[in-house]
Amino acid sequence: MYPKVHIHLKKYAHNVHHLSSMLHKKGISMMAVSKVFSADSRLIDVLNKENVDYIADSRIENIKRIVTNKPKVLLRIPKMSEVEDVIKYASISLNSELEIIDLLNTEAKKQNKKHSIILMFDIGDLREGIYYQDDYLKIVKQILEMDHIDLLGIGTNLTCYGAVIPTLDTYLKLETIIRHIEENLKIKLNMISGGNSSSILMVEDNSIPKYINNLRIGEALVLGRETVYGNQIEGLYDDVFTLEAEIIELKNKPSMPEGITGMDAFGKHVKFVDQGIITRAILSIGKQDVDCTNLIPPQGVIILGCSSDHLIVELKDVSLELGDTITFKLTYGGILSVMNSLYVERSYEQSL
Ligand SMILES: Cc1ncc(COP(=O)(O)O)c(C=O)c1O
Repeated sequence: MYPKVHIHLKKYAHNVHHLSSMLHKKGISMMAVSKVFSADSRLIDVLNKENVDYIADSRIENIKRIVTNKPKVLLRIPKMSEVEDVIKYASISLNSELEIIDLLNTEAKKQNKKHSIILMFDIGDLREGIYYQDDYLKIVKQILEMDHIDLLGIGTNLTCYGAVIPTLDTYLKLETIIRHIEENLKIKLNMISGGNSSSILMVEDNSIPKYINNLRIGEALVLGRETVYGNQIEGLYDDVFTLEAEIIELKNKPSMPEGITGMDAFGKHVKFVDQGIITRAILSIGKQDVDCTNLIPPQGVIILGCSSDHLIVELKDVSLELGDTITFKLTYGGILSVMNSLYVERSYEQSL
């Protein structure tokens, strides 16, 4: 049945192997991020067989389901309401709130466990983390006094909310924090988790600061690209995930709606270009599964629009019939959506 997402396991394994080897050569460990594919168990199996050091996910529900011998890392800073599960199912979590860390400590004591944390710092991207200019020594001191919390190190996240790219200048802020903590509190921070797929360019050109010894990588593994400029990384696959959908109507129709127009199904005023009569196909996939802006069509297929359950494309010089399928590549957002849709079947491909 369609729509179907084809998951190319060997291509994923290739991307994972290539990138983790590249990081390891520079003394950087890798957390492979599984949230984009909702911790699909077949892809987790690939990670289990590959040379990744940690498996990380933003959702505790996914962390719970992941079966692995590798340490599991909760990427999104924990909710108060999930502290019990965090201790139960994750060995490491990223944190930025002392109050939550204190709750983790209490819960870890209750469960007779030691929980590791990476304390996050915001060095300009304005998502999670203690702001780098705040007085953080007091916070770190209090964490060090907690019996059931192990401060594994510190981390930062870039090129997410503020789209700030990793540069030597930006990383200087992280270096200052490390030095300040280590010198004042006489400790050694074992892990410096310096970012995500946007830091890969600095790894490739050898400019990444030596103190960064961990990266958390998601997008580069599934799309084979760095995320500063979106450029492809040589030798990696961009089609680990492809989406196949079926044509349920195929007709020649005008390109302009007829009659007085108002809002579309999603409350938007849509503009149309008059191209006369065109060959159009409707496919049985819609915004409920994936927004059509996240689909990359093959040559000769032009995406015109979509509603909840229908994708409308123009066909130019391609001959297709009713019941045929069209296969699309996906953006990061596209993979995220289809892997979370109840209506998209999964097909696991073994060949390259
Ligand atoms: C804290 C954190 N680190 C790393 C990642 C991975 O980012 P990317 O997919 O750009 O490698 C994410 C997002 O998935 C994240 O939220």
